[in-house]
Formats: sequence, C-alpha cells, structure tokens
Amino acid sequence: MIDLFPLAGPLLFRFDPEVAHGLTIRALKAGVIPAGRGVDDPVLHTRVWGLDFTNPVGLAAGFDKNAEVVDATLKLGFGFVEPGSVTPRPQPGNPRPRLFRLVEQRAVINRMGFNNEGLEAFAQRLERRRDAARRAPGVVGANLGKNKDTVDAADDYVIGVRRLAPLVDYLAVNVSSPNTPGLRALQGREPLRALLDRVLEARAACGLSRNPPVLLKIAPDLTVEDKSDIAAVALESGIDGLIVSNTTIARPDEIPQALRGEAGGLSGRPLFAPSTSVLREIYALTNGKLPIIGVGGISSGADAYAKIRAGASLVQFYSAMVYAGPALIHRMRRDLAELLRRDGFKSVGEAVGADHR
Ligand SMILES: Cc1cc2nc3c(=O)[nH]c(=O)nc-3n(C[C@H](O)[C@H](O)[C@H](O)COP(=O)(O)O)c2cc1C
Repeated sequence: MIDLFPLAGPLLFRFDPEVAHGLTIRALKAGVIPAGRGVDDPVLHTRVWGLDFTNPVGLAAGFDKNAEVVDATLKLGFGFVEPGSVTPRPQPGNPRPRLFRLVEQRAVINRMGFNNEGLEAFAQRLERRRDAARRAPGVVGANLGKNKDTVDAADDYVIGVRRLAPLVDYLAVNVSSPNTPGLRALQGREPLRALLDRVLEARAACGLSRNPPVLLKIAPDLTVEDKSDIAAVALESGIDGLIVSNTTIARPDEIPQALRGEAGGLSGRPLFAPSTSVLREIYALTNGKLPIIGVGGISSGADAYAKIRAGASLVQFYSAMVYAGPALIHRMRRDLAELLRRDGFKSVGEAVGADHR
C-alpha cells in the first residue's frame, strides 16, 4: 500500500486532536485514504464464536463512534471493526477540550463522554450497508453504551441489543469507560449479573436464527475481588467473551506533569503492561473458556503476539493509529504472521494462551 502518513501525519498533528480525528473520518468517508487490505497470510486466519476472521487484528471502539466508516476501515486491513460506543439517544459528550496527545509517551488521554449521534443514525448506517451491493469483507461488531442521564443502565443496553442484534456480528457491552459517571460500578458482582441477564434475555427475545455473541468490555483498574467476581459472573451468565481492556484512570510516572491532572482515560503505550497483565489474569480465572479480545497499548506485531500468548483470541488497537497511521495494520499482520511461524504455530488459535502452558 502507499503510505501517505509520513506526509499527512505531521500535518494532522498541527490540528487540535479532535479536529484531526474529524478530518481523518472525513478522509476515510471520501475514500482518499488508500486501502491496504491485501491478502491475509493463511496463518492469521482464525475462527472465534463461529465467525471467520481473515486476521485477528481489529479496530477498537471509539474511533468510529457513529458507524460512518465501517467499510473504509475494514479496507485498511483490519480483520474486524467495532463501531461505537453508541447510546440510545444522541448526546454531545463532555465540553472540549477532551482529547489530548502525549506524543513522547505514544499515549492519549480522552474524556469524550460518549459523544455520538445516537442509536437510530448508527443502525440506519448499518442497514444501508447490509442492503448495499458491495461490502468490504470483515467482521463488524457494535459497542453499546448508556446515556449519561439514564438511571437504570440496563434499559439502555437492552435498547441497543434489540436494535442492533440483527445488524452486527457481535455486541460489546461497555461498562468500563471512565467518562460516564457510575458506569464502572456496573462491573460489581450483583449489578453485573443483573445487567448481563437482561442483555441476554433481550438477545434471546430477538428470535434470530443466529445470536450475535455478547462480549463484556472491562476496565484495567480492578481490584483482585473485582476480577474474580467478573470472571465468575462472566462464566455463570452465559456471555460469550470479554474485551480486556478499556482505558485506565491511572497515571504512571512517565505521564508529564502538565497532563497528568487531565481527567479521563489513558490509552496507548503506557497501557500495554497493565492491560496485558489483567488479560493474563482474566484468562487464568476463566480457565481459558471464554474467548478474549486483548486491547490496550498495542503498537506492533510483537505486542499483538504478546497479547495472544497471554490469552487473547483476537486483538484490537486505536491509539497507535494516531502515531503510526494505517500502514501499521499491514506491518502488524506481517510481523505477527512471522512470529507465529517462528515459534512453530500453524494458526493464531494454537498460540492463544501459550504463556500459560
Ligand atoms: C479517543 C478515544 C475514544 C474512545 N472511545 C471509546 C468508546 O466509545 N467505547 C469504548 O468501549 N472504548 C473507547 N475507547 C477505548 C479503546 O477502545 C481502547 O479500549 C483503549 O483505547 C485501549 O487501546 P489502545 O491503547 O490501543 O488505544 C476510546 C479510546 C480513545 C483513545
């Protein structure tokens, strides 16, 4: 693929981060960012939840909040994409500025607060895509959130499930964004059990011939008790998998003084170690029975491979795109394939959880 990022990157960095993001979405919509799909190395093919992924590298939630660039991002080479988080009603999110680059640390702090156009606009775009003659190949999930002013959170997730279950390959229940007051409390044992029961009930009530898998996306900032509760509830409830993890509210020492006081979730390179350690623990606590999407600080094929060995069946990233551009997807797939072969694995599936054996 032609890599325009060495030219476009420095230009984008002259804009406020949110403006730069808006320009990127517009460029993707206009088709001016060259597609880099190519053909995936067969060693990268993997089957999870009965879904075929030509490669295990996905685009994490928050990049395409309104499902505007599903095909355009798949064409960049991702094996799967996860538009959202979407809330039932449109909402503006937090006041700006709410997105900060930490260039030296290759990190991002965001407190967007689920700014999005709402469920109807999101679903209609997916319907238009479903009815279109041509679609980019790849798996498409949807990440569900709740409106800031909704009192019973489960109501909002149920609305999301009803509208989107027929339109996507999987559903992610996001209870881990640090920017919606009270959201992360849904990770506690009882609230989580009640929430997941209602979500699964809503999915069953759709009466679909094929139920989209339901995945729970969790935070990296959890106590030992939280983690064992989540693992137990995830296994008992009958959900299909986990996404580990969202951004962190921690501020490691390397975060400069000027920005460490900014509220919000930290992502990118400093999140790699803590999120991988939570992934490793959750894989062990669930005895490898639930497929996990590993996300947090991935910026190379080696990082993706490390998450897979720690227990991830699939991986996602977002922040590294800001610093390396879309050509990273191609490099990541190539390097991951090489690492799998080097260690004698014939497929991604064989390497999942290898560190635990
Ligand atoms: C600007 C921004 C917005 C995000 N919005 C969402 C969101 O709406 N829902 C969600 O589940 N995660 C959201 N995330 C978290 C990412 O999906 C991912 O879990 C996190 O950034 C860690 O991955 P990374 O280090 O590769 O960025 C957002 C991240 C960023 C940087």
